[in-house]
Amino acid sequence: MTQSTCHVAIIMDGNGRWAADRGLPRIAGHRKGADAVRRTVEAAPGCGIDVLTLYAFSSDNWRRPPEEVNAIMRLFRIYLEQEVERCAANGVRLSVIGRRDRLPASVVAAIASAEGATRDCGVLHLRLAVDYSSRDEMVRAARACGVSGDWSREALSAGVGPDVDLLIRTSGERRLSDFLLWECAYAEMLFIERRWPEFGARDLEDAVAWFRSRERRFGAIPEPRLAAR
Ligand code: FPP
Repeated sequence: MTQSTCHVAIIMDGNGRWAADRGLPRIAGHRKGADAVRRTVEAAPGCGIDVLTLYAFSSDNWRRPPEEVNAIMRLFRIYLEQEVERCAANGVRLSVIGRRDRLPASVVAAIASAEGATRDCGVLHLRLAVDYSSRDEMVRAARACGVSGDWSREALSAGVGPDVDLLIRTSGERRLSDFLLWECAYAEMLFIERRWPEFGARDLEDAVAWFRSRERRFGAIPEPRLAAR
């Protein structure tokens, strides 16, 4: 039996704690975090993932010290510039969700170039959430519906993004932190202790295997119980 593909979303948490545990500056954790992004993207298609959404920078992360914000922005630019060729060769369509008007011009240019170069790729859709807030995304989707427009679930869903099947958060926290609130309505959620820089292909495989073992009912009751009425 062929397995259906799934949308996995990850809150990549714990870079700072990974670094602090080793007496390293926080940016060393983010650098290792970028390596974990590469490993995860590479492993995703083999796990049956067709959409992968990674929470890279929340709209609230602007509250961090400017040196850390600048270092993270630099990592994004380097990642986009370095990975675009490999993404295109491996059929990975890269896109970025979130606001662009507050990002450095060099990052905006790298996003546009990576999105253009991978537009037609169809193996995996990698979505990086940068300057992203789910509440803001919902407000934008609602505004796009217009005052007397179509206010159906479908119209609002189209204005946000695809439903999430599996949400993973690393580093022990158990919260959504303004990430894909609408899209996670029926997501299975997995909170793991491992810090993001240590996340690897095996963790992703285990997470998807756990997800596939879940019985998803979407509010209904399972077939055998239906038959036994
Ligand atoms: C959360 O850990 C991580 C971030 C806010 C930044 C995410 C950035 C990366 C994973 C690296 C680069 C990404 C790409 C896409 C190339 P934290 O700093 O909040 O960790 P803490 O809670 O332990 O302090």
